[in-house]
Amino acid sequence: MTSDAPPPTDPTRAARKDEHLSLALDQHGDGRAHNEFDDLDFVHHALDGVDADLVDLSVSVPYRAGARHPAGRWRWRTPFYVNGMTGGTERTTRINRQLAISARETGMPMACGSVSVALDDPSTAHGFAVIREENPSGFVMANLGVGRPADDAPRAVELLSADALQVHVNAVQETAMPEGSRDLSSWLASVEGLAAASPVPVIVKEVGFGLSRRTLGRLADIGVGVADVSGRGGTDFLRIEDARRTDGGFGMLTGFGQSALASLLDASAPASSSRPSSTPTLLASGGVRSPYDVVKALAAGAHAVGVAGAFVSVVGPDGDEGGAHRLISLVEDWTERTRAVFALLGAAHRDDLRSTDVILRGRLREFCESRGVD
Ligand code: FNR
Repeated sequence: MTSDAPPPTDPTRAARKDEHLSLALDQHGDGRAHNEFDDLDFVHHALDGVDADLVDLSVSVPYRAGARHPAGRWRWRTPFYVNGMTGGTERTTRINRQLAISARETGMPMACGSVSVALDDPSTAHGFAVIREENPSGFVMANLGVGRPADDAPRAVELLSADALQVHVNAVQETAMPEGSRDLSSWLASVEGLAAASPVPVIVKEVGFGLSRRTLGRLADIGVGVADVSGRGGTDFLRIEDARRTDGGFGMLTGFGQSALASLLDASAPASSSRPSSTPTLLASGGVRSPYDVVKALAAGAHAVGVAGAFVSVVGPDGDEGGAHRLISLVEDWTERTRAVFALLGAAHRDDLRSTDVILRGRLREFCESRGVD
């Protein structure tokens, strides 16, 4: 992702893509670091299981009508998708190709990284278009940062013949980024303008710091139909930006924001005077390390679950030809293990997970208690 203030074209922007990628990969070791997904357990009911062969893992994601498209629902074969990451340099183009082949072969939806660099410098456009080239009939999402001119929405969609447009809101990252934006005051209006101009539904997403109930209510008020809460606990853009600075940086903000589960539980609490009644359809991401995390996010209210760091680290740093093969194997394994956990929990479909019994602990529980979430 980039600081998405409009042109002039900056030759360091492409280099920053490579730098973000390397620094993100450094954070994904064995994928087992503790995060708030570990703060939710299911109560085990030994006689509630169902037949894994009858489990339907497909998901349905409803979206509202926009100014330029009718309401509808997406039907996705897998409950997880490749979240927005990269594109625009030689190396990230190779990585996008491997991600796109994996998405095609497994039926996973896939987003690209921010296309603003390609809109400002068309010589980098193939780094994104490669995704559609490799996956002509799959579900593809374009990606733009808040703050871009509204006209960029149709341009971004056109670049990939995209089915949806992710608009990322990354206030914490901008704050920590040496070249980041300091004026965050016009973002709601910017999102509204991009959503109104987009020919396909917009998904507003964070980049690893969560979306609060208030934010979700504001998005619903301006007609945004889908949001990815993308919470804390996985790829950490505060650490990435701090590693790019030589001064004190913003390490003091470590732990800022909400996890994916905290955001989802906050959103699904009953409405009150401090909590708006309406929210967009929820997707979740941020810190998803395993199929068990996917199931937990679905049980907490997500309609589908995005994965960035854990997938790109399997593809590897250079986008070598074996990357797609490795990711396809991983996705097949995740699919079978997700199915097994659904059966264990007595869920034949994503909607059945909503009635599982859960126990919360640690920081997640503290968050829910202090927010009055049952
Ligand atoms: C990202 N992410 C991101 N998000 C976005 O909306 N636009 C972007 O351009 C990028 N760029 C980007 C680059 C790299 C290398 C990574 C790993 C991630 C954020 C991503 O979509 C997601 O919100 C966070 O990474 C949290 O998910 P994980 O990584 O913990 O699964």
